[in-house]
Amino acid sequence: MSAALAGQVALVTGAGRGIGRAIALAFAAEGAAVALAARTRQDLAAVAAEVRERGGRALAVPTDVTQDAAVEKLVEGIVADFGRLDILVTAAGAASFGPVAGAKPADWDAMLAVNLRAVMVCCRAVLPIMIRQRRGTILNVASVAAQRAIPGGAAYAATKAGVVAWSRVLAEELRAERVRVGVLSPGAVDTPLWDAIPNGPDRARMLRPEDVARAAVLMASLPPGASLEELTLLPAGGIL
Ligand SMILES: NC(=O)c1ccc[n+]([C@@H]2O[C@H](COP(=O)([O-])OP(=O)(O)OC[C@H]3O[C@@H](n4cnc5c(N)ncnc54)[C@H](OP(=O)(O)O)[C@@H]3O)[C@@H](O)[C@H]2O)c1
Repeated sequence: MSAALAGQVALVTGAGRGIGRAIALAFAAEGAAVALAARTRQDLAAVAAEVRERGGRALAVPTDVTQDAAVEKLVEGIVADFGRLDILVTAAGAASFGPVAGAKPADWDAMLAVNLRAVMVCCRAVLPIMIRQRRGTILNVASVAAQRAIPGGAAYAATKAGVVAWSRVLAEELRAERVRVGVLSPGAVDTPLWDAIPNGPDRARMLRPEDVARAAVLMASLPPGASLEELTLLPAGGIL
């Protein structure tokens, strides 16, 4: 059996459901110890139990990633428990849609806080560890919305385009430190994110969270000399 991430420790934000959950399970199946962060304690406990049932190691840490001090504590706790931190996946995110003319500034603030600002705070928190180790992979989850104009998705697109631009600069800053930074931009994925969005695309034609997880495993498990920096993963059926 292959174990592409054996001996590594990964922090996955947004690990309670959807894409983050699938990535955490896939990383654990590849031998990584996984730290799981999201706000909902029960979701994290369920994912941690799944990892352990399959013989993996999991640490569930209820965390609101928009709270800077909580993120610092999260990372300190991981290093205290596991002794290192090799991979960060920022999959925590939120989406609300609607035309710009009726947009609420509060929705903009909430999405910016979790989709963009928290990505910066999480990355910054792991950097001293990865730089000290001279090894690390950061994988930020953006969206195809950063590249394609989807009416109603202006604010969401702005947060995700921000993640792409910001990650490109971070990748350059960390190249000499042997820490690699990649951005994974999926098209529509069938997750609970769509539950609150009316008139979304046909869910049967979307990607499955496990598809995104396979791409994440590839990005995280390439040899240290190779870096898959930007990956767009689309449903093959032609939507989004
Ligand atoms: N689904 C898609 O079609 C799609 C496509 C492209 C990109 N994406 C992106 O992929 C990422 C994951 O999306 P998803 O579809 O898996 O969404 P999801 O099913 O709604 O899951 C989002 C996860 O993020 C967590 N989260 C939200 N706010 C948080 C906060 N402040 N602190 C900590 N955790 C928080 C949620 O847990 P709590 O609410 O319990 O905190 C949950 O575990 C997002 O960045 C999304 O923008 C999704």
